[in-house]
Parts: sequence; structure tokens; C-alpha cells
Amino acid sequence: MDLPPAFLERYLPLVDDPAAFQDSLQEKPPKSFRVNTLKAAPQEVQERFSEYGIALQAVPWYPDAFVSSEPAVGQTLDHALGLIYLQDLASMLPPLALLPELEQLRDAPEPEEQEPPVIPGVLDACAAPGSKAGQLAALLQGRSLVVANDVSWGRTKALRFNLEKMGATNAVVMSRDLRSFPACQFPLILLDAPCSAEGTACRNPLALERWKPRLIQRLARIQQRLLLAAFDHLLPGGVLVYSTCTFAPEENEGVAEFLLQQRSASLEPLRFPGLRSSPGLTAWEGEDFSPDLSKAVRVWPHQNRTEGFFLAKIRKARQGNPEPAGRGQLPPLLWDTGGRDVAAVRSYLGTRFQVATSAAGWYASPKGVVSRGPPLLPPLPLQAPGVHAATVQEGRVKPSTMGLQLLGGHARKNRVNLSAEQAREYIAGEDIGLSPPPAGATDGYVLLTVRGLPLGCGLLQAGVVRNVLPKAMRQAIRWC
Ligand SMILES: C[S@@+](CC[C@H](N)C(=O)[O-])C[C@H]1O[C@@H](n2cnc3c(N)ncnc32)[C@H](O)[C@@H]1O
Repeated sequence: MDLPPAFLERYLPLVDDPAAFQDSLQEKPPKSFRVNTLKAAPQEVQERFSEYGIALQAVPWYPDAFVSSEPAVGQTLDHALGLIYLQDLASMLPPLALLPELEQLRDAPEPEEQEPPVIPGVLDACAAPGSKAGQLAALLQGRSLVVANDVSWGRTKALRFNLEKMGATNAVVMSRDLRSFPACQFPLILLDAPCSAEGTACRNPLALERWKPRLIQRLARIQQRLLLAAFDHLLPGGVLVYSTCTFAPEENEGVAEFLLQQRSASLEPLRFPGLRSSPGLTAWEGEDFSPDLSKAVRVWPHQNRTEGFFLAKIRKARQGNPEPAGRGQLPPLLWDTGGRDVAAVRSYLGTRFQVATSAAGWYASPKGVVSRGPPLLPPLPLQAPGVHAATVQEGRVKPSTMGLQLLGGHARKNRVNLSAEQAREYIAGEDIGLSPPPAGATDGYVLLTVRGLPLGCGLLQAGVVRNVLPKAMRQAIRWC
């Protein structure tokens, strides 16, 4: 790839090793993933990978993350079932920057009612397709709440799919422009802003194809507005992480500096022991930034063989100038917490699978979509409250694949164990003929398992398991 001369002119003077930086942009970093600890433990995944013959390398600063020797690591059972999530290592940093605060949130009692309402969770303000929202949900160990928001209705489809595949019942999805977000405040916010994505050029050379300094200026103005909007939804004393996957100081330190000038905010230090990084810049093209900006972190691609990233951890002063906390009336919640459809699904799970479920955290839409979500829903216009577990139509319950992955693990009836070969065919979208018919299962929906893991839902009819796997989950897998 030919790097634009103006691009090199801007960045070579900023890096510690210009030759290594240039080389790193020409070579893809190795594939990496994070174990989705909502569904699996790192050691269990490591053991299965060793059976597959795929070598994994541990990551010193994150025990849930691994680098894979096999580029096609997505073609594993673990990926198909949402036990792992493919993600660049640097993109795992923003949620980790919030780890101490997430740990406090996880164990915090519910706050008292306040005006504007305080949502006791973390807002992922620009969340699609959900890499970091899923990681936040896992770092919260399925407790508390992640409000995953994205302005793009189209991209929230992928966001919902990914969060459901992760089994994130503590995540809810909404689609609002952050600049007209409803009036409420959060103790924690992640703003992973839209950016010029220069840091992804090592994986995707197209990222630099339309590179123009003018685009950077335009994005910086958008980011300034987004950061102000996000900050105004932060509780006094709360913490916000601002991140981008770009190198441009205008989109990084320049945006954080803009906030420091407009609001009562300060930067917190960030530490990732074992990660190579550089401090944020305190000056750029003749403009001096606050010395606080050296607490921000820049990760250049050559330092750890990852994409490039920038992050700043910002704290809101406990007392400051009163700021507007949002716009727009809240519509009434559409989700019914105790209705007929919820009762039908819980009763169906009990009789068909002998799975008992607790009463809290069930929600039904007027169209019969029944979801398993957090115990208390935030008063926000939600698109999806947790994981879609089943659909009820004319009183008939149809469990979903994600629902049975989530709830079916303890099923004592209507469980069908598949061999590795059969699971591979099922995940590829085929029906599976069973001969002899499975003992302990009658015609109707069954929980399919493989290697003791819940694979999801199948429809058993006269000795054949009909394939009901959602199309988006079908894939060819090599390792099972
Ligand atoms: C860098 S991506 C986020 C990636 C995501 N955090 C992840 O880790 O998967 C930026 C996102 O910001 C969203 N976005 C852009 N403008 C927005 C706005 N005004 N309000 C909310 N979301 C916005 C875009 O649709 C895009 O999905």
C-alpha cells in the first residue's frame, strides 16, 4: 500500500520508531479474540483450542484475550456459539479503562429516584456493532446494565444480534442520535466515536484510500458535539471514556481539549501493565493542549501489533456549572413485564424442558416477542431489552436459538446431543436425520447440545431435526 505523503509527514514525527510504524501499516496484525465470559471461561476455551490443534498466545494485560496462530479462528464451534468474540486487541482497551468503576457498579445498590432520572449502568453511546458493549456486559458479569445506543437503525440490527449471541441479558439496545438523547444521567459512559479510522489501515488498506485532512476537520467538529452531549449525560463525579481508532490529534487530544475548555472536567491516568503505549500529545501544529492530556493514551500499531487507538478517561467534577442533561420527552415503555405471553413462555420452558426460571427480568412486546433482560428496565425508549428468548403467536410458544442457549443448559427433557459431525452440518444450515430417534425427546422444539454445550433450538419431527438456526448464525465451521 502506498501511504499518502501528507499522512507520513503528519505522523512520522510523532512516533517512537518511524520505520517500525511504516512497516506495521503494511502488515496485518494476527487475529485475536476475547473469551465471552458470559458463556465460557478462558481456560475451558484454551483446552478446546488445544484439542483443535490451534495454538493460542496469552495477552499480558488481559487474561480473557488471546492471539491465535490460526487466521481462520472464526471457523470454530466456539465462535459459532458466541463463546469467543473476534476483536482487535486495541479495541478491547476502552471497556478495560472503565474496569475499576464497572466493578463498583456491579456491586452497587440501586440508586434513589432522581430528576433527571439516573440510570444505574453504563451508556455505550455509539455502540454498533457491539464489540465493546458485549465486553462491557461481560466485565459486569451479566449484572447491572449496559445501555447500548447507536444512531443508525441499520447498524443496531448487528448490535442486537451480537449482544444476543453473547447472551448479554444485562444489555438493552436503543437507537437515538446522542445529540438529542432523552434527559437522564449515567455514572459511566463510553463514547467510542465515529472517526477517520486511520488506525485500522493495517487491517483494511481502504481506510486510507479516501484519506484527506479535510475529512479529519469535519469529523473533529462532529466529535466535539458528541463528546459534549455525552458529558452532559454524565452524573457529577462520573467517568467517561472517549476513544477513537485514529491517529489524528484533531480527533483525539483536540476534542478532549475542547471539552476541558467548555466543562468542569479533568483527565484520569490510564494504566495497562504489559501494554506498550505513548502518552497523549500536549501540543499539535502550534496549539498547546492542557498538560492533563499527557494522561491520555495512544497505542500505535507497531507497539503491540494491533490497530491504532486513542483513549482518554475523563471525570466530571462533583460540583460544576449546571448543564443541560438532554432533550426529548420519554415515550411510555412498551414492554410488558408480567403479561400473558411472559407467563406462557415460563410455563412452556417448565413443562417442555423442566427449566425453572425466576420471575424477574422477563419482558414481552405487543407483538409477542418475549425477552430475558435486566431485572429493572431503564425508563428509555428501548428497541430490545436483553436477549430475545421466544415468540408467542396465538398462544403458541416458539423458543429462539439464543433463548435456548441461554436458558436451556439445565434442560432435563427434550435434549438431543449431536456428534461433532452432526453439529457441523446443523450449524451449516442442514436438517439432521437421527436414527434411532433420540430417547427422552418427543416431537416439538428440542435443545440441541454438542460437547455438553447448548447449541440452541431444533424442531424434532419424526426422527429428523429441522433446522431453525437464524440465517445470520449459519456458517461453515472446521473445528468442532
Ligand atoms: C466507531 S463506531 C462504534 C463501534 C462500537 N463501539 C464497537 O465497538 O463495536 C461509531 C458508531 O457511532 C455511531 N454514531 C455516529 N453518530 C452518532 C450519533 N450522533 N449518535 C449516536 N451514534 C452515532 C455510528 O453509527 C457508528 O456505529
